[in-house]
Amino acid sequence: MAIKRLIIAIDGPAGAGKSTIASRLARHLGYVNIETGAMYRALALKAIESDIGFDEEPALVSLAGNSHIDLEPRRIRERDVTEAASQVSVHPGVRQWMVNRQRGMGVAGGVVMEGRDIGTKVFPDADVKIFLDAAPEVRGERRYRQQGPVVPVSISAAAQKNAATVAAEMRQRDERDRSRANSPLVPAPDAVIIDSTGLTIEQVMEQVESIIAEKQRVSALAT
Ligand code: DC
Repeated sequence: MAIKRLIIAIDGPAGAGKSTIASRLARHLGYVNIETGAMYRALALKAIESDIGFDEEPALVSLAGNSHIDLEPRRIRERDVTEAASQVSVHPGVRQWMVNRQRGMGVAGGVVMEGRDIGTKVFPDADVKIFLDAAPEVRGERRYRQQGPVVPVSISAAAQKNAATVAAEMRQRDERDRSRANSPLVPAPDAVIIDSTGLTIEQVMEQVESIIAEKQRVSALAT
């Protein structure tokens, strides 16, 4: 009996562990991992380079329409692009373009797609929906470690300030992502919410894998 190739949606705020979990899961299952945040980041980077304002929706939509996205892994992670991605992603026209592309990429299944609106908007019928969250201070620290310098054991005053700035900026972007009119960051009603605050990556993986195994067992019984 063939095992169905699932559409797995992983949503949640920055620093909750989505990318780590999604990429491990995809590797483990032999699925494609699609990080939709990178698509918004790529458009944001192109807007910066083309001198297009982040509030110019029609220009952003036509910029997207004339693009094919090649990811520059390093530059799209920088602070200005991170901030710009949050701003360009509020526009309904930009989101529609992205959602159409994302549906095309995932419709055949065998995909772990992570972002903010995968379970609510891109694939409301996804086979598995996980909403990964964590306490804001933990997420801030994880983000800082991801993008900041290696922090020595005794953190200098300057580094502490930097960590606080990163956390404050992240909270501001989170607030924008959660409160925007179009596809705000909210768990889908049928998502399983995992709080990764006190958990290791392995513990989160265990929970996610057991949710998927259960789904596969139920769908095998149904066929
Ligand atoms: O996941 P990330 O930090 O790379 O995402 C960058 C920005 O893109 C984030 O501020 C919100 C936005 N985004 C979105 O609105 N919808 C998605 N599906 C993915 C990201």
